[in-house]
Amino acid sequence: MSQPGSCTVVVGCQWGDEGKGKIVDVLAENVDIVARYQGGANAGHTVHVGDAEFVLHQIPSGILHEGRRCLLGNGVVLDIHQFFEEYDALVARGIDIDGRVGVSSRAQLLMPYHRFLDKAVENSAEVKIGTTGRGIGPAYEDKAGRRGVRVADLGNTKRLHERIDAAKARVVQRLDELGWGSEDLDRAMDEALALGDRLLALSTEVGPEISASLRAGKSVLLEGAQGTALDLDHGTYPFVTSSNTTAGAAATGTGIGPTQVTDVIGVVKAYTTRVGEGPLPSAFEPEMDDHVRTLGGEFGATTGRPRRCGWFDSVLTRLASQVNGLTGVAVTKLDVLDTLHELQIATAYRLPDGSVTEHFPADTWALGKVEPVYETMPGWQAPTTEVRKLEDLPPRARAYLDRIEELTNASVRWVSVGTKRSQIIPVA
Ligand code: IMP
Ligand code: MG
Repeated sequence: MSQPGSCTVVVGCQWGDEGKGKIVDVLAENVDIVARYQGGANAGHTVHVGDAEFVLHQIPSGILHEGRRCLLGNGVVLDIHQFFEEYDALVARGIDIDGRVGVSSRAQLLMPYHRFLDKAVENSAEVKIGTTGRGIGPAYEDKAGRRGVRVADLGNTKRLHERIDAAKARVVQRLDELGWGSEDLDRAMDEALALGDRLLALSTEVGPEISASLRAGKSVLLEGAQGTALDLDHGTYPFVTSSNTTAGAAATGTGIGPTQVTDVIGVVKAYTTRVGEGPLPSAFEPEMDDHVRTLGGEFGATTGRPRRCGWFDSVLTRLASQVNGLTGVAVTKLDVLDTLHELQIATAYRLPDGSVTEHFPADTWALGKVEPVYETMPGWQAPTTEVRKLEDLPPRARAYLDRIEELTNASVRWVSVGTKRSQIIPVA
């Protein structure tokens, strides 16, 4: 029997947008399969190849490497229309993806009515989440409520329509109650269902495919979407997404066992960002916020919304290290900090009652009121974008990385210093 291959989970350690797309693209060089295990078209993974920019929402970021097999696991909610739009756009841009994309027969179908409901609920909600409007919450609600339809159901038209009609009727009634129209819904449904056979042709048994590949000595990458603080259980509930984004979900969401995972790489941005509602304890003051947003190009890849920015928060990354069982860290966008003369790192939170904690509080409203305890480090004020070896980084940049490593409790394995594939520093 050959040595089993490696199975690496790549997971976000903040509020998403850590640069997972870039890290997955770099790591995909050495793997055979890349699979998504949760989320849907709410994700926006930006990858630069040469001068071209690709933003992927549902198809794994490994697709830009020739020959890699890319799978969507059972934990994903799949928007058929959006999926084929992305698929066809890749083909139009010259990416050969024939035979390379597989979709779990157990993946949930995200239907147009989920999108309609997401927008209507968000619009009328007292506590707004700031969702991406992609229908993610309603699709996972239908999954847990056992009203969902799955890829396999596309094989039985009669049953498919019965289930969809029932789920849709429920949504239409709810839209009505919310005073939200459902015009165009039927047309959107027809468009989506017309693609059913095309999707069915891509369906596969993802768990067995990954397991067999691992047994044959092939390597697999499981690509997380969003980040730890957006996890349904461990994030800033209710300001979270509706799936488990953390590493434990990688096994459940693809159909393999947790013991098959060999590595968990956490992606952390050298500072912090958040898009959508909910607390961001280490948020910058307004002027600095604008400055770093411009330096880092911090605008949502899915919705175009400006991201709020803040200092590196090690209370959060410590939680991420623990929840995900990180075996290594990739630090991204270090170069964005190149011109700052001083940097701060949040190491603890002071609660409204004056007590200090190093733990991320479960009470999200209390989290909204904490004062971070900061430690200050000098900036390096030198360009890092051309650096390719750790020893060539300015000493103050290395000190910053050492501190991140220490506080996060996981070793830094890669440092990204720009959007290009080549702008990466592997750490031995
Ligand atoms: P939903 O996943 O669209 O329901 O949105 C729930 C929350 O997660 C909102 O605050 C979104 O802005 C945030 N969110 C969802 N997907 C992403 C992502 O890929 N990057 C960053 N934030 C996200
Ligand atoms: Mg993103």
